[in-house]
Amino acid sequence: SFGNHVSIVVFGASGDLAKKKTFPALFGLFREGQLPSSVKIIGYARSEIDDADFKKRISAHFKGGDENKIQEFLKLTSYISGGYDSEESFTKLKESIESYEAENGVEKSERLFYLALPPSTFTTVASTLKKVVYDKNGTTRLIVEKPFGHDLESSRTLQKDLAPLFTEEELYRIDHYLGKEMVKNLLVLRFGNEMFNGVWNKDHIKSIQVSFKEAFGTQGRGGYFDSIGIVRDVMQNHLLQVLTLLTMDRPVSFDPEAVRDEKVKILKAFGELETDDILLGQYGKSEDGKEPGYLDDETVKSDSKCVTYAALGIQIHNERWEGVPIVLRAGKALDESKVEIRIQFKPVARGMFKEIQRNELVIRIQPDEAVYLKINSKIPGISTETSMTDLDLTYSTRYSKDFWIPEAYEALIRDCYLGNHSNFVRDDELDISWALFTPLLNYIESDKAPAPEIYPYGSKGPKGLRDFLKKHGYVFADEG
Ligand code: BG6
Repeated sequence: SFGNHVSIVVFGASGDLAKKKTFPALFGLFREGQLPSSVKIIGYARSEIDDADFKKRISAHFKGGDENKIQEFLKLTSYISGGYDSEESFTKLKESIESYEAENGVEKSERLFYLALPPSTFTTVASTLKKVVYDKNGTTRLIVEKPFGHDLESSRTLQKDLAPLFTEEELYRIDHYLGKEMVKNLLVLRFGNEMFNGVWNKDHIKSIQVSFKEAFGTQGRGGYFDSIGIVRDVMQNHLLQVLTLLTMDRPVSFDPEAVRDEKVKILKAFGELETDDILLGQYGKSEDGKEPGYLDDETVKSDSKCVTYAALGIQIHNERWEGVPIVLRAGKALDESKVEIRIQFKPVARGMFKEIQRNELVIRIQPDEAVYLKINSKIPGISTETSMTDLDLTYSTRYSKDFWIPEAYEALIRDCYLGNHSNFVRDDELDISWALFTPLLNYIESDKAPAPEIYPYGSKGPKGLRDFLKKHGYVFADEG
């Protein structure tokens, strides 16, 4: 792992991602004493701003920590402006890194490069970096952000372009969902508890749902979102990652390659995504008319069929899962912001009960992490009736508020300088996820796909949702 005197370079340092995620995460790690003991942080971007301006911009989104901490952190940072293909500016960058290393008597350099940039620039930056800055005797790590391509073909092109420049060992592909606390807990919950491990299969599980809800729309980012859509934005990556961890077999250890081997194996057992097993929606104005519809965004084509809500039926064809209905669903502009997993178990034999509900395990990823299991229990006292109640592990009530749970980006940047690839996406994993989703995306974006159903901003989503979930084995509480 990285030891002392690490240089961290953030490309795209004046952009949104760096401002909102990367720098606040670096600051959060510093605040918690989790950065390596000596670091030099350099922001690099095209904007011609000075050091003071840069520092003001990045610190605007810092959370926690007093003014002293912020100033201490900012002292570690500096800014270089230049083009992404400018050998001259990259030479300045190299000199800045090397002078820091020389001052500290570094013999073997340790450098982390973070590309907070659109993928169209990845190859340019990577090749200038390799040519001008790369130190073949040191350790280099390169973090890249989604989207890794637009479909299978473009993803392969990107992989092919990056492969001769940086090895798979040097590359860290971020899917920030893998840095979320509850997502990191999935393998522990599943394989560390026989009461879950033992029933984690088609004999006991009736249906699985992974659901992503956001209570806001595209908020002026519509122009960007229009060519992406919800399936590409959060399903092909974030939700698929969650489902993979939920359904894979037990890895022999937590070793990154052991974990990722199992992930790839289960992805290969996923059935083709059926174009007739989907529900598509696009949000319209809110019922009170106050919130705009998707098409009201001026940056969006007026006849756009872009999907802001999708539910997909998925099948996994292996011994563990054959026949278990799985639904991934995701939507913007809904009634709440929540990401959760719902696993419903098969009903028990009725026999002694007139009516009894099935068990359901809920794993809430955000907000307020929680794991709760719905069980039947006798109503206390003289009653002989049963009722459904929860075995409840809600983090905010179970753990002290002072307990530091890193944000996804904090956790992943830390993993990166510790050299741990477990929570990053491997090349074969990326390839197979695009292979799975590309035919469906092609269909959704073709004329053959039906127009998405319009649902009101702030609602639960398209009207057909309840029936869609029922068709996929989900039993609602009011149905018994
Ligand atoms: C991003 C998507 O990858 O994830 C956004 O591009 C989405 O559209 C975001 O809002 C959700 O992330 P989080 O961490 O807020 O759940």
